[in-house]
Amino acid sequence: MSFVALTWMNCIRRHLLPKARFLHTLQVLQSEQILMSPSLASLDLPDIWTPNYSCQSSPAILKSGNEQTAMVLDGKLMSTEIRSKIADQVRQMKKCLGKVPGLAVILVGQRKDSLTYVRNKIIACEEVGIKSLVTELPTDCADADVQNAVMRFNKDPSVHGILVQLPLPQHLDEEKILDALCLEKDVDGFHPLNMGNLALRGREPLFTPCTPKACIELLIRSGVKIMGKKAVVIGRSNIVGLPTSLLLQRHHATVTIIHAFTENPEQITSKADIVVSAAGVPNLVRGNWIKSGATVIDVGTSPVEDLSCEEGYRLVGDVCYEEVVKVASVITPVPGGVGPMTVTMLLVNTLDSAKRMLNFT
Ligand code: GUN
Repeated sequence: MSFVALTWMNCIRRHLLPKARFLHTLQVLQSEQILMSPSLASLDLPDIWTPNYSCQSSPAILKSGNEQTAMVLDGKLMSTEIRSKIADQVRQMKKCLGKVPGLAVILVGQRKDSLTYVRNKIIACEEVGIKSLVTELPTDCADADVQNAVMRFNKDPSVHGILVQLPLPQHLDEEKILDALCLEKDVDGFHPLNMGNLALRGREPLFTPCTPKACIELLIRSGVKIMGKKAVVIGRSNIVGLPTSLLLQRHHATVTIIHAFTENPEQITSKADIVVSAAGVPNLVRGNWIKSGATVIDVGTSPVEDLSCEEGYRLVGDVCYEEVVKVASVITPVPGGVGPMTVTMLLVNTLDSAKRMLNFT
């Protein structure tokens, strides 16, 4: 029941109604609530966006003559600096304890994007001296196979972080699998307790999800103020949109979330100082969605067929870069923006976990 309803009820209880009538009013309120609120299951609609594969500027935007060019944040360069510090600390740990942090990755199936992400994570681990272990399971494996892999890594003292690459094939129970993760090794921050603690004021999660953490790190390192600013997060996935909105709130931004059912998203977005787009829809965010001088963080990475590329596809963001770069004051590119920083945050979380578990400061 909402805070407003409770306060109102306290008011009736204390000042206006005798007990019998109060109870009757309470029953009416409760029955109204049952009648008025649909079940959570029916509220859980999928976010289906309309993709826009070409980003042809509208005549209005082309005519504007606005040639302002935003500062382009280099996620690769920032990552190099952070990774070099991680490598130093891993060396120190090895020297003092004879141990290094260990990251275990569970990959189910052969999704091209997941294979690329996992490969990047393994390479990054190698570069900084973190030990990595990978369990690959076939697409048609059972829940129990994934849970057994999780449990094995939960018990392995050389593993300090466990990551189940998402999305999992549809037939698997993601909730049960993530629940099986040992909280202290949940370097993705997807365990419900870590996510819950992120949402609650006065509580601290052991780990913060890597992409949201990467977005905040990019903002802070490039001198963008978050406190008191209007932020819009586009998309509400458990992996990015939802935790990013929570993290921005923790940094005292005033946050609005936009999803596929939001009316007039462009109007809402055009008032924001900071826009984080994580819809996975190519060219969703156009130049006229953005306030002049705003900061735009593009988390989208959608594969688009491009036969001139070696792999036959290239990754494009949610943001129509050519338009937005002329309006914003700060922008992240795709690729080379949030992506490398996400992997770096995974390394940070794995190192932090190892330091906590091995009592190494
Ligand atoms: N799939 C897309 N992004 C992520 C991520 O950050 N972690 C995991 N485990 N899976 C993902």
